[in-house]
Amino acid sequence: MNLTEAMKSRHSVRQYKDIPLERDTKAELLAEIDSCNQESGLHIQLVTNEPKAFDSFMAHYGKFSGVSSYIAMIGKKGPDLEEKCGYYGERLVLKAQQLGLNTCWVAMTYSKIKSAFTISEGEKLCIVISVGYGKNQGGLP
Ligand SMILES: Cc1cc2nc3c(=O)[nH]c(=O)nc-3n(C[C@H](O)[C@H](O)[C@H](O)COP(=O)(O)O)c2cc1C
Repeated sequence: MNLTEAMKSRHSVRQYKDIPLERDTKAELLAEIDSCNQESGLHIQLVTNEPKAFDSFMAHYGKFSGVSSYIAMIGKKGPDLEEKCGYYGERLVLKAQQLGLNTCWVAMTYSKIKSAFTISEGEKLCIVISVGYGKNQGGLP
C-alpha cells in the first residue's frame, strides 16, 4: 500500500481486537518512531500491553474498546510542539495503516497512565494515538 492509498483507506477506529501487535509489525512501527524522533527531536514512545489508559469512564464514553497499545506523542514544551506532533503523528498513523494496523488520534477520551511512558524535564505529553488491529476499518457504517 502506497501513501496515497493509506490516506484514502484510513479512518479513525475505536474498537480493537484483543490481540497484541505482531512482532515484525511492532519492529517496523518502532523503526518509524525512531526515525521520527531523530528527525524532529521529539520523544515519541510506543506503549504496549497497557490496557488501563482506555479502560476509564471517559474512554468507554468515547466508545473505545480493546485498546492496549498506543503511541504517546511527547516532546519539549514550546510553540512548535503541537505542529510537530501533528506532522509526525500523521506520518505514524499512515505507516500503521500500511502495516495493516488501525489508529485513532486521542486528546481527551483516555487516562494518562504516568508509569507507561517517560516525560523528561521540560517535556509534555501532547496527544496519544491508539493503535492495533481494528474490529472494523472505520468510516461510515
Ligand atoms: C487533534 C485530535 C484530537 C482528537 N481527540 C479525540 C478524542 O479525544 N476522542 C476521540 O474519540 N476521538 C478523537 N479524535 C478523533 C476524531 O474524532 C476523528 O479524527 C474524527 O472522528 C474523524 O474521523 P475519521 O478519521 O474516521 O474521518 C481526535 C482527532 C484529532 C485530529
